[in-house]
Amino acid sequence: MIKKFKGLTFLIMLMMFALVAVGCSDSGGSKVDVGIVLPTKDEPRWVQDEQRFKDALKDSKYSTEILFSQGSSAKEKENVEALLNKGIKVLIITPHDGAAAASAVEAAKKEGVTVIAYDRLITDTDAVDYYVTFDSLAVGAAQAQYLVDNAKGSGVPLYLYAGAASDNNAFLFFEGAWKVLQPKIVDGTFKIANSSEAEKLKGSADLSRDQLGKIIGQVTTNWDANEAKNKAQTHLTAAGNDLKGDVAILAPNDGTARSIADVFASDSAIKSYFVTGQDAEKASVQYIIDGKQSMTVFKDVRTLVKDAMGMAVDILDGKTPETTGSYDNGSIEVKAKQTNVIVVDKDNVKSELIDSGYYEASEFTGLK
Ligand code: BGC
Repeated sequence: MIKKFKGLTFLIMLMMFALVAVGCSDSGGSKVDVGIVLPTKDEPRWVQDEQRFKDALKDSKYSTEILFSQGSSAKEKENVEALLNKGIKVLIITPHDGAAAASAVEAAKKEGVTVIAYDRLITDTDAVDYYVTFDSLAVGAAQAQYLVDNAKGSGVPLYLYAGAASDNNAFLFFEGAWKVLQPKIVDGTFKIANSSEAEKLKGSADLSRDQLGKIIGQVTTNWDANEAKNKAQTHLTAAGNDLKGDVAILAPNDGTARSIADVFASDSAIKSYFVTGQDAEKASVQYIIDGKQSMTVFKDVRTLVKDAMGMAVDILDGKTPETTGSYDNGSIEVKAKQTNVIVVDKDNVKSELIDSGYYEASEFTGLK
């Protein structure tokens, strides 16, 4: 009995030793300098960012690791912790939920890691050092301007859709769009078709975050193509013929634009529609070529990746990264580097996206 117990103790000790040894060799063998956390693989936008990071990192002297959070703040926190265990010095992170990510980046800050918010701001925390972003107000303004430029006559039914309320960008996109649309609602060019909250607020060009939140809450897609499709179906079922015919649709991004466009295209009382998008996703580029999506806002991810990695390398080299402005995240002013965006429709799709080398012509059909 005693002998058996001793044998067991020895076995347990051996196992513990093995575990410790594995642990050591793991963290020793796979040290990472820069950790990158992206929100989900379910949207081509972020898979593209991963690819562009990989392309940019080929010749880097620093090691990196990219993890995806699959639309879960809990998974995101685990990812950050896993990267902290690998000794990262810089964390580049696109939060799934801008407020919920605060605790993950606070954990990183505690370890002395420099935090760079990538594309989406992390809100209500002082644990964000830098923000690299596109000009998101300009994205919304460009979408709205496209609808204004293509509206014929007056009383054009306007269908509004927004991104996820947990994403600070959804507010910026909508705010940028509203500033352009609101005067055109007031002057009768557009009539709001699907949002009683927007209808209530149509007298004000400047909306508070709360007011924006009310409209977004009503017309959110949650960045989910299926949710967008269901909402569009519900809206068209409820709409009378006075809200059909030639219509304008503010869709927040390409993924939601394609599914909303499909719903509108299949309604025989819709004679024509203009629908916006953003991201220049391949599937939407094809939709634009085919005349099924009107425009997209091209955000050159290569620039964002270059800026984020440039910052990370500066930090690792002991230099202070260059910034061009700042964003209020509800707690502090976060130093930011901002990139411009480009409107793409069927007239310039070839020059902006193919001739520029962003995509290959062979990836599309019917390109002229
Ligand atoms: C990004 C968009 C993207 C959306 C949904 C936003 O924060 O800026 O490019 O389409 O999230 O993932």
